[in-house]
Amino acid sequence: MSSQEIPEENLPLEQDAAHDAAGHEGTAVAERAGDEPFADPGLPAHKPRIQDIDERAARRSERAVAFMFTLSMLATVAFIASFVIFPVDKIVYIWPLGHVSALNFSLGMTLGLALFCIGAGAVHWARTLMSDVEVADDRHAISAEPEVKAKVLADFADGAKESAIGRRKLIRNTMFGALAMVPLSGVVLLRDLGPLPEEKLRKTLWAKGKKLINMNTNEPLRPEDVVVGSLTFAMPDGLEESNHDFNNEIAKAALMIVRIQPEDIKDKQELEWSHDGIVAYSKICTHVGCPISLYEQQTHHVLCPCHQSTFDLSDGARVIFGPAGHALPQLRIGVDDEGFLEALGDFEEPVGPAFWERG
Ligand code: FES
Repeated sequence: MSSQEIPEENLPLEQDAAHDAAGHEGTAVAERAGDEPFADPGLPAHKPRIQDIDERAARRSERAVAFMFTLSMLATVAFIASFVIFPVDKIVYIWPLGHVSALNFSLGMTLGLALFCIGAGAVHWARTLMSDVEVADDRHAISAEPEVKAKVLADFADGAKESAIGRRKLIRNTMFGALAMVPLSGVVLLRDLGPLPEEKLRKTLWAKGKKLINMNTNEPLRPEDVVVGSLTFAMPDGLEESNHDFNNEIAKAALMIVRIQPEDIKDKQELEWSHDGIVAYSKICTHVGCPISLYEQQTHHVLCPCHQSTFDLSDGARVIFGPAGHALPQLRIGVDDEGFLEALGDFEEPVGPAFWERG
């Protein structure tokens, strides 16, 4: 059946007339804009689709597109619901994938379905309801004449009209709904960043009365165990490798202890916070957190092997060289009733890299 035989009441749009007008107008503009007359390559005659000639078929396509956009919205809702339904550590068996995380599987499937349905809906819309009339046009000079710009705007308006986005409100509304809801998936993904650290980065396991445990022998330290010239590493009493958060806690609480002649200690607070010349400092470099391990007993300097930041342990562990931003935090220590070295509180400032705490 040709378009000339279509009863007028069955034409869903006045699009054929518009296409013809657009095609002729495009040719005329090309002839005006180019140096050579435009030679039409002779496109085959347009064959109308079933949706072009039967409004009921067009309505079926419209419903199919709306169904896909609606399915996309439901998939996005399911994506968000997955975060509530599935615990992070739930594993399920899914053939043929084997054992997989239920949460990851559900997130992947629902997000994939939401995006696929938007794409499939858009493709089906374009293939069945938007204009499929081919138009040949000449290549123009790159800089457009004002009349060409006006033509582009007119074509754009025609395209919007031909897409029937204004007339087919069901498609338009469901498409906007689907597009608006998909970004919500990104909002709930923020949950994967984990809980806020709150005070965790500011606190360590050190507290008043915690014994200093030698990290090599696992025995509590006595003052006489710390001799001049040695570098001793310590951790808080009660921190054992079986602790589920051992690595995080030891990374914050690791301590280095040296003995300095009290008269060599230049910083007044350092002297007050020490015990008989024994000073305890965080072992974690304030640059980017490497463990400090090199001690030079003549100068009381400690060196971070990563980027050579050097700290003076006889002068409040201030930075004397390298990229570290501030001194190592000192732990106030004393001796308990049994004669063991003990902490007199937690560090008074955060340990480790300084960049996150300095605004
Ligand atoms: S981490 Fe210590 S100097 Fe860079």
